[in-house]
This record gives sequence, C-alpha cells and structure tokens, in this order.
Amino acid sequence: MIQLNRNRNQEEAGSMGSENKTVVITGGTSGLGLAMAKRFKHAGYTVVIVSRNERENLPCDRFYSCDLTDPNARKDIVKRIAEDNFNIHVWINNAGIGVYALCEELSDKNLRKIMELNYFAPVDLSMQVLDILKKNNGSLVQICSVASQMPLCCMSTYSSSKSALLMFNESLRMETDVHLISVLPGRIDTGFSSRAVKVREVPDTPGNRSTSPDKLAEKVFNAVKKRKSMVVYPFWYRYVIFFSRLCPGITRSVSRKIWNLGK
Ligand SMILES: NC(=O)c1ccc[n+]([C@@H]2O[C@H](COP(=O)([O-])OP(=O)(O)OC[C@H]3O[C@@H](n4cnc5c(N)ncnc54)[C@H](OP(=O)(O)O)[C@@H]3O)[C@@H](O)[C@H]2O)c1
Repeated sequence: MIQLNRNRNQEEAGSMGSENKTVVITGGTSGLGLAMAKRFKHAGYTVVIVSRNERENLPCDRFYSCDLTDPNARKDIVKRIAEDNFNIHVWINNAGIGVYALCEELSDKNLRKIMELNYFAPVDLSMQVLDILKKNNGSLVQICSVASQMPLCCMSTYSSSKSALLMFNESLRMETDVHLISVLPGRIDTGFSSRAVKVREVPDTPGNRSTSPDKLAEKVFNAVKKRKSMVVYPFWYRYVIFFSRLCPGITRSVSRKIWNLGK
C-alpha cells in the first residue's frame, strides 16, 4: 500500500527547491539512495523518496511508503506523485537487494523476489514515468552494477537482474529521446552485503572496504547535469570488466578461490 506519510499542500510541493525541479529516488532511505537524496537536496531540488520504511530526518520533502516488490503497490505510483503536484524532472531507480548463493542453492522465492525488486520494479516505474520525463526534458537513472558485466560465483541472480536492467535501459535508449543514464557502481561502502539475502556468508575481501556513497552520488548528480549516458565508478572497474572478458579462466579461478569453492 502506498501511504502519504507527510502532508504538504500542493502549492508548497510545487514551489520548493531553488532549481524548482523534483527528483524521485527509490530506496532513498539508506546507502547510495540517501547520499543521492542529500546531494540533490543540497542543489535545491525538491526530493521525493519511495521505499518501505520512513526514517528520522530524511533529506526529503515527501516520503511514500511502498514495497516495490509488490506490483499492485507500485501500480500508478508515478501518477500519484504527479497528482500531488510534484513535477518530476529526475527519476532514479535505485532500490535493490543482493543475494549470495550458488545457483543450485537458490530458492524459487528468492529468485523471484530479487528479480521483482531489481528488474521488474525499475522497468515498470520507468514506463510509468517516461512521458513525464519527456515533457520535462528530464532524466531517468538506472542504478545497475559492475556485476552486470561479469559472471561471478554466488551472484548469478543479482548479476542477471542488473544485467537485464542494463540491457533494458540501453535498449530503451534506442527507442526514446528521454535522457537515460546507466550507473554501474563497484563496491560501495553502504552495508549492502549485510542486508542481502545470504545463503552463504560474504567472504571478507579487500573490495569489501571501499568507496563512500557520497562520491558516487556526486558522479550521478554530475551525470544528470551534464546529460551523460553512463557512469562506472570507481573508474578502475572498467579495467576489471575488460580483464574478466580477456581472461575468463583467471577470473573464474579467482572468484572460486574467494568463495572457497576449490579449483
Ligand atoms: N553498495 C554496493 O556496493 C553496490 C554496488 C553496486 C550496485 N549497487 C546498487 O545500488 C543500489 C543501492 O544500494 P545500497 O548499497 O545503497 O543499498 P542499501 O543501503 O541496502 O539501500 C537499499 C534501499 O532500497 C530500499 N528497499 C529495499 N527493499 C525495498 C523494497 N522491497 N521496496 C522498496 N524499497 C526497498 C531500502 O529501504 P527500505 O528497507 O526502507 O525499503 C533502502 O532505502 C542497489 O540497487 C544496489 O544493487 C550497490
């Protein structure tokens, strides 16, 4: 169920923000989404957050509670936000969840839950918001992952969901004039792994202690401003992706070693 958790009158909602623009961020209550909410708020945007649980002192003008894995709950959410007089200029599909399990360990329930949140929800929301963004010369941002670009042990569903989202966005780019951004973050220090569905514990690798979400939020903000089409951050992950394609055997051995799967 979508609930309106704060009451602001329509005029107030429409006139807020020095740029008089509205950004909607799914999953804006923690990690990367929260960092982006702060960054856009700092720039004078009206910020709307959509996720399940409202928290204290969120940097937003309106919070909509919605479990995005529920197709009925997310139905018409864009229309409802627009009816509340938020004129949407930037929509960021950020809410997502990880899963760590061997392919053979995955339950059907988990598989469908991850795909629903990481793929079907952003696709559904993108199609709801496209006409508004077209009218406003706005931007649609999909938070994908570098994992969308290379197979890794214990991440089949997560990688598949993000690679499907990336391919959706890049295909949509062929069909529309709306400004689209595909964002491929590497490891970002948000506690994401601790909230993932874990059939297996995530091994502690150097990549676990990595980049602050604020830096990626800055990159996304600049990509919207400069109308870029892709962000890969940290930048050196481009080389990791390239290497994994050039040397799939070594990538396989390293990934198996990290997860203690033998040779
Ligand atoms: N952190 C990384 O290393 C990393 C790397 C690559 C890509 N990414 C991607 O970046 C995005 C953000 O990740 P993060 O690290 O910031 O994760 P996070 O800190 O766990 O934040 C996830 C956000 O999604 C919301 N959410 C989770 N389930 C939801 C649901 N069913 N319906 C609505 N909202 C839901 C959460 O709020 P509620 O729990 O209140 O709903 C929260 O605001 C994800 O798409 C992730 O796949 C992250």
